[in-house]
Amino acid sequence: MPGPPVHHRAFFDLWSRVYDVPIVQWTVYRPVHQAVLAELRAEPARRVLDVGCGTGILTASAGGVVDGLVCGFDLSFGMLERATHRRVGPWVEANALALPVRAEAADVVVSTEAFHWFSDHDAALREFRRVLVPGGRLIVAVVNPRAGALARAAGEWFARAGQPAYWPTRSEMRARVEAAGFSVRRQRPVVRLFGVSFPTVVTVARRTE
Ligand SMILES: C[S@@+](CC[C@H](N)C(=O)[O-])C[C@H]1O[C@@H](n2cnc3c(N)ncnc32)[C@H](O)[C@@H]1O
Repeated sequence: MPGPPVHHRAFFDLWSRVYDVPIVQWTVYRPVHQAVLAELRAEPARRVLDVGCGTGILTASAGGVVDGLVCGFDLSFGMLERATHRRVGPWVEANALALPVRAEAADVVVSTEAFHWFSDHDAALREFRRVLVPGGRLIVAVVNPRAGALARAAGEWFARAGQPAYWPTRSEMRARVEAAGFSVRRQRPVVRLFGVSFPTVVTVARRTE
């Protein structure tokens, strides 16, 4: 599978320099991370993969609630370089569409605020299914715009700016996850700033046999 374009990686390398700014983390990402951590606490897991882990803030927190291995994957060296200063790991440079992980190696796959950047959502979901054990959990948090028109307009704007992204609506997310071989258990909006217009929704699903 061809890797993502160089400028895609460069965009995130650049972003990594300011990614950990506390005000952004506290208002935008922390509420999402807390919602995912609550899901992780609900059920024991030994092998957790964080795909699109960024600078590894959630990955590191997950290391505190999981009794086992938490591994972070990201395509940006800039993001990963910052992640390596955290105590957990390993940290792996990888495209979400082709994870360097054997089949059925993970109990949980989490991905927060990264799914919209993946170039092929269905391929990413198939990859998550491949690496999960049967019955394993998928926890994806991403902005799910209320209206399809808004999702398309935002996607077109980003594509014109040279950085394609696509945010599925909540019902589309459910349909795609189920089509990839998961059973969706719940979809919970996260309470945070701008959450009314651009709600991040945590979709929790289980790999079917
Ligand atoms: C907004 S950041 C989110 C980081 C982290 N999950 C968090 O919640 O703080 C999106 C991350 O997705 C990564 N990413 C984008 N496309 C990717 C891909 N195809 N494969 C792996 N990581 C990707 C970026 O490098 C970036 O670190």
